[in-house]
Amino acid sequence: MSKSDVDLDDVEQLAEIDASGMLGVLERFPEQLREALEIGRSEVGLPEAGGISSAVVLGMGGSGISGAAVAAPSAHEIKVPVLTVNGYRLPALVDENSLVFAVSYSGNTEETLACVDQALSRNARLVAVTSGGRLAEIAAERDLPLFKVPVGYQPRAALGYLFIPILASLERMGLISGMVRKVSAAADMLEERSREYSVRTPLDDNPTKRLASDLVGYLPVIYGSEGPLAVAAMRWKTQFNENSKVPAFYHWFPELNHNETVGWQHLEEIGSKCHLIVLREKPEQSRIRKRIEITMDLIKDSVGHITQVCARGDNPIEVLLDLIYFGDFTSVYLALALGQDPTPVTRIEELKRRLAADPG
Ligand code: PA5
Repeated sequence: MSKSDVDLDDVEQLAEIDASGMLGVLERFPEQLREALEIGRSEVGLPEAGGISSAVVLGMGGSGISGAAVAAPSAHEIKVPVLTVNGYRLPALVDENSLVFAVSYSGNTEETLACVDQALSRNARLVAVTSGGRLAEIAAERDLPLFKVPVGYQPRAALGYLFIPILASLERMGLISGMVRKVSAAADMLEERSREYSVRTPLDDNPTKRLASDLVGYLPVIYGSEGPLAVAAMRWKTQFNENSKVPAFYHWFPELNHNETVGWQHLEEIGSKCHLIVLREKPEQSRIRKRIEITMDLIKDSVGHITQVCARGDNPIEVLLDLIYFGDFTSVYLALALGQDPTPVTRIEELKRRLAADPG
């Protein structure tokens, strides 16, 4: 079905297109998770844990997804609300009893820095996660706890470094438990997956290459379901955007049954160019399973293709990381199938350049 001129089994050709080495970074992701655990368990002193009434994660884009990646797998355990702020303004409830993680890979993202200013003026208990930039300077000036992550990555490729130290901190502060052990088990699980999805594993045995090849010429629409699968769907969408440079959209069950299910009824030509990817898990909540099955039946003639991807993993963090890893590889192979270096994001850089030139 693929309309690509690129042979996804031609390792040399792929290496030429992947000029900045995104596939190598991905193959080392399980190692990144282990290093991130070490960073999170390091000697970095954490704020006072007593009386914390909310946890807040600030950040945008590749850094910002850390908030959702922390909130979803811990939702049924953590006793305080976890808020994610992906913008310029902190909600009013953030105060001196809020534990605020400011996550910015570069350390220079203006929305995140604006929220850091507000958090400081409200005496919130701030922790910085960054590779450097202004955020690292603020942490040094204010003597804030700082998780310093390695330089040289694209923010989205440093996801493990960015969100695992937050989970480890929440555990060190007694707000969750068992997460460090689960992340460590997930890293072992992904080690196996990295061989399965490797560039050296031929397309016939490599589900990520197969899906990428089926996506050439189609607009990916990814459906998850409430919790970690919705976060995974969002990550797939943003990775298709930034790695493959294609538009992509996502939504999640059951919410999409109350709106988007109707929206496939018209614009048949556009629908036929969409490839719907439904993320699933086992076991699946029975009402969600029924909804997915009915929905696929209702809309199957309105989309070009439907592919289902079932997560492997025994707990929410394994399920999340398993699906993220599958989607990351798929988005990189789709980039390569389109002859596109997955690493550069020139439009984001251009936009930031233009904004910096006009600070008013
Ligand atoms: O993936 C990207 O490059 C972006 O989504 C960035 O993560 C986003 O612009 C925020 O920058 P930073 O991660 O440096 O805070």
